[in-house]
Amino acid sequence: MDIGLAMQAMRDPAGVPAHPVLFQILMVFTWIFHIIFVNLTLGAAGLAIYSFQRRHSHNHWERLSIATTKVAKVGVSLLIVLGVAPLLFTQVIYDPQWYVSNVLSARWAIAFIFTLIIAYCAWFIFYFNNHTGAKSFIVGYAGVALVLFCLDGLIMHVLSYQALLPEQWLAWYAPNGIVDSSGSTLHAILWPRYLFVMSLSVPAIGLFLLAYAEYFSQRADYTPEYLNFTNNLGRSLAFIGFSIALFPLLIWQFMHPAGTGLITNPMGWLLAVSLMAMSMWIRNMPPKVHGYVPLLGGLGVLTLLAIWREIVRIQYLKPFGYSIADYTVNLDLPSTLLFFSTLLGVGGLVGGFYLTLLYRSARVQGPYTAEPAVSKLGNWAIIVLAMWIATFFTYGIVIWVRNSFLV
Ligand code: HEM
Repeated sequence: MDIGLAMQAMRDPAGVPAHPVLFQILMVFTWIFHIIFVNLTLGAAGLAIYSFQRRHSHNHWERLSIATTKVAKVGVSLLIVLGVAPLLFTQVIYDPQWYVSNVLSARWAIAFIFTLIIAYCAWFIFYFNNHTGAKSFIVGYAGVALVLFCLDGLIMHVLSYQALLPEQWLAWYAPNGIVDSSGSTLHAILWPRYLFVMSLSVPAIGLFLLAYAEYFSQRADYTPEYLNFTNNLGRSLAFIGFSIALFPLLIWQFMHPAGTGLITNPMGWLLAVSLMAMSMWIRNMPPKVHGYVPLLGGLGVLTLLAIWREIVRIQYLKPFGYSIADYTVNLDLPSTLLFFSTLLGVGGLVGGFYLTLLYRSARVQGPYTAEPAVSKLGNWAIIVLAMWIATFFTYGIVIWVRNSFLV
């Protein structure tokens, strides 16, 4: 059987509603936001546990543990929500690979959801009980949650990686010619790739702490000693984290299959250089640098990673003649227009309003009164949301009436 032809046949016969490269760009772009919150959450969860264990040595640790527990709590919900968009785009242009990979490890794909639910519940138990004078045993819940979060990351990695190895699908589906439809095996793990992406959680929480110290510097209830403590810790974690992450990345670099040209591809090396540059810069950064600036560097590293993952995917699938460029296009302008206006209107304006509100409100101690600009933004957010709901339903009803009664 020609696996390349099989992949073509498994494509959605309806095609895609706009040029496939558009979906590719959106997939890479939206994945950046997913992985930002994966790394932030795992870093915050790890630090929350570590600080909890050190809480008797100084009250800074206790305060930090409570704060990072909250960061991880919010982070999980965001990483889930922000995982949906790249998931949808992957399913649009890489549907044969993604579905085969999921079916081959179906039990794990389903277990992913349940383990994520259990992990999140365990984290909430830790969150509810992590306050001054907390009992020691509650850290067990946090430990279970963190292990399960890492397992979920591993499942995500396996699903991504198996999708790149079509030449092995048949052997996994029917080992020695006997069909195994249990879906109970994780068939392929590339440990350096998994460990590299996960290890970025250490610098991520480091950069977050630098921004945290800057953000709360205006508030009287955050003492300079505490903010100095978080700033120093953030700097150490970011420096150490970027340096450590270089090792699994370099191992991954040399594990790319011969003939794909990935070992000599400049993009992978640019990623390695960006890690080195970040770690050196953080180490020597003058104290007067604004605490948000390093975040931009972190964003740059994750953007390179997102692009690099896509280059890796393209090169792995090329020998099988699979290219998204020849995906059938059935242009559907109204739905494409609806999508982009949703992204800009609801994502940009309504999302922008929430972000501005959150940002401004926590900078003041006690109740916050919205400035006129923020309040105006809020009004516009409501108007846009109402327009979006009206358009969405009108569009659906028109199509339903046309297809059901007029054709
Ligand atoms: C604690 C939970 C999660 C963790 C730790 C996690 C971690 C990861 C990691 C490490 C990768 C990169 C894998 C690789 O490149 O080898 C990844 C990719 C991805 N994750 Fe997550 N993830 C989680 C939850 C989710 C959820 C809930 C969704 C969807 C709603 C999601 C959607 C995706 C998608 C679409 C990809 C890219 C797949 C591809 O490119 O083929 N993730 N995730």
